[in-house]
Amino acid sequence: MSFPTTRPATWFVTGTSRGLGLELVRILLERGDDVAATTRSTERLLAALGDRVDTSRLLPLAVDLRDAEAVTRAVQRTTERFGGLDVVVNNAGYGFLAAVEETGDREVRDMLDVQVVGVWNVLRATLPVLRGRGSGHVVNVSSVLGLTAVPGWALYCAGKFALEGLSEALAAEVADFGVRVTVVEPGYFRTDFLTADSLALPADTTDAYPAVRAMTADHLALQGSQLGDPVKGARAIVERVVHGGDGPLRLLLGSDAHAYATAKVDALRANLDAAAPTAGATDFPTS
Ligand SMILES: NC(=O)c1ccc[n+]([C@@H]2O[C@H](COP(=O)([O-])OP(=O)(O)OC[C@H]3O[C@@H](n4cnc5c(N)ncnc54)[C@H](OP(=O)(O)O)[C@@H]3O)[C@@H](O)[C@H]2O)c1
Repeated sequence: MSFPTTRPATWFVTGTSRGLGLELVRILLERGDDVAATTRSTERLLAALGDRVDTSRLLPLAVDLRDAEAVTRAVQRTTERFGGLDVVVNNAGYGFLAAVEETGDREVRDMLDVQVVGVWNVLRATLPVLRGRGSGHVVNVSSVLGLTAVPGWALYCAGKFALEGLSEALAAEVADFGVRVTVVEPGYFRTDFLTADSLALPADTTDAYPAVRAMTADHLALQGSQLGDPVKGARAIVERVVHGGDGPLRLLLGSDAHAYATAKVDALRANLDAAAPTAGATDFPTS
């Protein structure tokens, strides 16, 4: 076990008023765990939880994840209220669908602010707590698009690939402190992710990318028929982190995610094999 489960665990979860984050909060409260839940709207979070679950162990926190000081204050409130911290889940994120050349400077910065800078703010504020306790688990919600990239999703992939690299390095850095890291890689899940409210689109488009426009329409139409069940996804995260205790570095969720990731690994393997005879040609001669 990476942290005691004989007492309620304390979780800090970002992006919780909808989708996977909301289901995770609901499941954790039902388990009797303590949950600090960040959101841009505590009203939306509380309304979504309704009266179906006991919220006495919930600390709803209105936080702009891009604001490092606000994140630090939220983590302080969490440890003051619950006396510690066991699991950190960086879940907040959104999709963006456009060709690379259609993606504006502001759109790039906004995405990376949420998916990279925001995660970094949370890690800077929480890692000292986990390290100090000599145990804990960081769960970073990436995507199968953090492993493989497809046209139209370049900006989203850029954010998730960054999250994958950060997570892999972090896992090796903090292992000796008793802190584990798991990167979750979902396929398509039936959350609000593909709704017009969540999926961001470019301010400017060109006529040069009809395939990207068609893909945008297809994705918006996919809403409601995605393969992945967010309740099962949230449960898988809890089970692998809490019950398994040994949460793997990568947790793929969904048979679609598994198929896409396998195709990527096969292509990468073929690339590596083809490069094997020539890769050493740029080395200095060994003495
Ligand atoms: N659903 C999928 O198909 C899928 C696939 C692969 C990966 N994912 C990843 O899974 C995570 C959860 O997404 P979801 O599927 O649950 O989607 P969702 O239903 O749209 O929920 C996304 C959550 O992220 C937060 N969020 C969105 N935009 C944000 C912003 N600009 N700043 C701060 N927070 C923001 C929201 O939090 P508040 O509104 O409460 O602030 C919301 O609760 C994301 O990281 C997403 O990239 C989803």
